[in-house]
Amino acid sequence: MIVIEDLRKSYGERVALDGVSLTVPKGQLFAYLGPNGAGKSTTIRILTGLTKRSGGRASLDGCDIEADALAARRRSGLVPQQTNLDNDLSVGENLDIHGRLFDMRRGERQDRIAEVLAYVELADRRDQTVRTLSGGMKRRVMIARALMHRPAILFLDEPTAGLDAQIRRRIWALIKRIRQDGTTIFLTTHHIEEAEFLAERVAFLDQGRIVVIDSPANLINRVGAWAVDVLGEEDMETEYFATRAEADHGIRGRDGSVTIRRVNLEDAFLAMTGRKV
Ligand SMILES: Nc1ncnc2c1ncn2[C@@H]1O[C@H](COP(=O)(O)OP(=O)(O)OP(=O)(O)O)[C@@H](O)[C@H]1O
Ligand SMILES: [Mg+2]
Repeated sequence: MIVIEDLRKSYGERVALDGVSLTVPKGQLFAYLGPNGAGKSTTIRILTGLTKRSGGRASLDGCDIEADALAARRRSGLVPQQTNLDNDLSVGENLDIHGRLFDMRRGERQDRIAEVLAYVELADRRDQTVRTLSGGMKRRVMIARALMHRPAILFLDEPTAGLDAQIRRRIWALIKRIRQDGTTIFLTTHHIEEAEFLAERVAFLDQGRIVVIDSPANLINRVGAWAVDVLGEEDMETEYFATRAEADHGIRGRDGSVTIRRVNLEDAFLAMTGRKV
């Protein structure tokens, strides 16, 4: 379980986190969404001990991130936004170094490397140099590495950025499997359909503040059920309606290109943050 209370972070004059509070119950898959610069990575970096907070409190499974920093770090695994594997080492060596950092013994490390690589379907790549892997494989190795020490909580900072649709879906299946095995997951993504598909609860963050936290279905319902996109000369405007009949009525007499579709989580995000993703 993740508990965050009034978390604050400033870099000099710039306020990155302006009092964030939220709780993620054990075993939940939670998505933390927001535009570029909203403070998502900063939050994750503070929770995983990579950056110091400026104010507020946070704990992972009851371990305070500062007073009980070492215990807190053992509770969580991190897949950072930027790939940070050692390119010159093999997949297995990268995982081995991570295991050593967490004081795993040699035999235990060897067994666990085989286990996590099988889990991410890369068992046959153990001796391959990281440099020669595809982007999607590297991302899966990063997930395997984060799972090495059996964390209760997994932080995924944009785990599918830059990956093609097919590989992305494969990673979605992997994330679902990790969730089903009981791990609490804290996910950031710019692919909002990813959050809609995966997450049980979603937070919208904007300029270091939480705008709203709810289930994807509730967030969508707040906006409406049907969307009408009206393509103008310059840009596109979208209107929302509670029923299909109202949407049909709404488009009557419109000229230009008009489309009716179901409301999705991206509509809710844009309506509530007033921003493009
Ligand atoms: N090391 C740093 N020094 C100074 N400012 C920083 C530093 N790291 C982050 N910031 C600033 O803090 C704010 C939040 O950044 P953060 O990386 O948390 O955003 P983000 O939501 O992860 O964005 P993105 O979607 O682009 O990854 C930004 O204004 C950013 O410029
Ligand atoms: Mg980020």
